[in-house]
Amino acid sequence: MSNNSNIYGEVEEKVKVEDWGIIFRLWKFVKPYLGLFIISIILILISAGLDLLPPFLTKVAIDNYISNDTKYDAVIEDNKLISYEINSDGKYYFTHDEDGAFFITDGTTKIPLTKSEEEELQSKDLSGITTITFYLILTLIGIFFINYGQVILTSFMGLKITHDLRMFLFKKLLKKRMRFFDTNPSGRLSTRVANDTQNITEFFTNVITSIIKDVVLLAGIIVIMLYLSIELGVVSLLILPVIVVAILVFRYFDRIAYRKVRAKVAVINAFLAEHISGISVIKLFNQEKRKKKEFDEVNNDHLKSTMEQMKVFAIFRPLMDLLYYLAVTVILWYGAKGITSSTIEFGVLYAFVSYIDMFFRPLKDIAEKYDIVQNALASSEKVFKLIDEDEENYNEEKDDSKDRKGSVEFKNVWLAYDNKNFILKDISFKVSPKEKIAIVGETGAGKTSIISILNGLYKIQKGDVIVDGKSIYDYNLKQLRKSIGIVIQDVFLFSGNIIDNIRLFDKSISREEVVQAAKYVYADYFIERLSDGYDTEIIEGAATLSAGERQLIALARAVLFNTKILVLDEATSNIDSQTEYYIQKALERISQTKTVITIAHRLSTIKSSNRILVMHKGKLVEEGNHLELLEKKGIYADLYKLQYENEV
Ligand SMILES: Nc1ncnc2c1ncn2[C@@H]1O[C@H](COP(=O)(O)OP(=O)(O)OP(=O)(O)O)[C@@H](O)[C@H]1O
Ligand SMILES: [Mg+2]
Repeated sequence: MSNNSNIYGEVEEKVKVEDWGIIFRLWKFVKPYLGLFIISIILILISAGLDLLPPFLTKVAIDNYISNDTKYDAVIEDNKLISYEINSDGKYYFTHDEDGAFFITDGTTKIPLTKSEEEELQSKDLSGITTITFYLILTLIGIFFINYGQVILTSFMGLKITHDLRMFLFKKLLKKRMRFFDTNPSGRLSTRVANDTQNITEFFTNVITSIIKDVVLLAGIIVIMLYLSIELGVVSLLILPVIVVAILVFRYFDRIAYRKVRAKVAVINAFLAEHISGISVIKLFNQEKRKKKEFDEVNNDHLKSTMEQMKVFAIFRPLMDLLYYLAVTVILWYGAKGITSSTIEFGVLYAFVSYIDMFFRPLKDIAEKYDIVQNALASSEKVFKLIDEDEENYNEEKDDSKDRKGSVEFKNVWLAYDNKNFILKDISFKVSPKEKIAIVGETGAGKTSIISILNGLYKIQKGDVIVDGKSIYDYNLKQLRKSIGIVIQDVFLFSGNIIDNIRLFDKSISREEVVQAAKYVYADYFIERLSDGYDTEIIEGAATLSAGERQLIALARAVLFNTKILVLDEATSNIDSQTEYYIQKALERISQTKTVITIAHRLSTIKSSNRILVMHKGKLVEEGNHLELLEKKGIYADLYKLQYENEV
């Protein structure tokens, strides 16, 4: 099943990211939070600085106060100690001879100490340790609070950026042309808005901040190491190239494995989404066994690729540990030699072992964070592809939908959805205000396409569409759509109750108005029968309502939004003859105030139209009223005869 990836659309949409420029395009989403961003970077720098302190403080404690060879600067006069202070480069140190007599010496002269001087010196060491312990605790508390503040701050910033980015994307989505939705599966688009935004945000919060911290830590560690001991510092740094190579190799294999895993996860998601939507077909055609097998394969693929990734990690982590212990061993060996020859102090060695440990952490971190960077770059690229896609035109214009009369004219309209194959060919017709026309034609003739064009959902290649004397392409699309009420072929209901679905969640429309509209199209009858009447909750897709019931709701919706033009695309195709009869009566009434365009397969429903347009393979082939068309003995007459004979 290795080619599953291709079946399920999204999957491995390979994005090769070389262009870091896209990150900077995203900067505008970070900009509103620049203040927070800067504060959080400052906190990170402070926290990195504080992280570096404990080993250094410990080293000072060990070398200055704990080990015997604390060094002092001393002022000696007449073989007497006048004053002294601790200084690691000082010449003097404190010692005693075999008899237990204490003195301070620079190796040659011995200045004996009185009992009180000796006690003072010892207590100085103790109070020094107390001070350092105090500083250590202070540092640790500081690290705690700074990290706390930093995490809260960056998380807040991250959430805000994700929120803004999602909002922005959703607004963009709403403006995309229908063609865009025809060519992008909904699963992919929701991934853009839900997940890709998060990946991008993670880059700005987690990655940028932690990489800055890692780099600062590394630099700090190197500087401190070289400051403490050039010799040990250089020895420690020798291991660096080995680590870098190990990381690069790891990165290479991990990237391959990671990509595979992601692709397989996408396949699982797509498989599930598709099969849950299509569950009734699976059940009705007894496909369970085959689907189980298919899913098992998909699932197994995922297991295998995840295992591969785990193997890469299973090598990387112990390898880094190995290198770490190697580095520590070398340092211990070298340091021990230094201590015996008194070129290196014990505290320095201790600090080195601590710093080597600290040194590995950011390196590992950077290596592992790289995935997130790749992810964020890939996500931004995809998001930008979405943002840059062509949009519908909503030029600013005042609301003049009230002055509409309801005339429609198609002038030599040509349409090809894919820009190649023409679905509508040279369509021309005129509808005057309050006229009632019908469009008929075989399946796929292009009837719905005409309606979609009228609403500005698709762009035509040639010709023009005029509504009330003005090309629809000069309208603000919002105003245009306000003047056309439409019942589309596939009725879609949103989750919410029936009332809200009819008034499309516009709370300014009262319940009474909604009920009136429902009564007008005879939807009232079935709605009252539902468990909660008008307040019955509908789940997205409205699988619990029959197709005819959904059509009635859509019809009520179209009537409620009192428009000058009403378009019905197969609006009564699933409705029983009796209800349909009443609806026809209602439409008669409606057509006295509105232009009504009806698309219907059942010719009996459109007999009364002023005019019938007959479509055939994308062309308008006949035009006239019912009787005229019958006399013509053309396509319409044939269609009518067929239906009439079947009905009798
Ligand atoms: N969004 C689209 N993208 C590409 N092709 C499309 C799209 N919508 C429709 N078509 C194609 O255009 C042709 C006309 O479709 P249209 O929906 O206008 O037919 P119709 O006359 O309404 O048919 P029906 O009576 O079945 O509703 C069909 O061949 C269809 O495959
Ligand atoms: Mg259609």
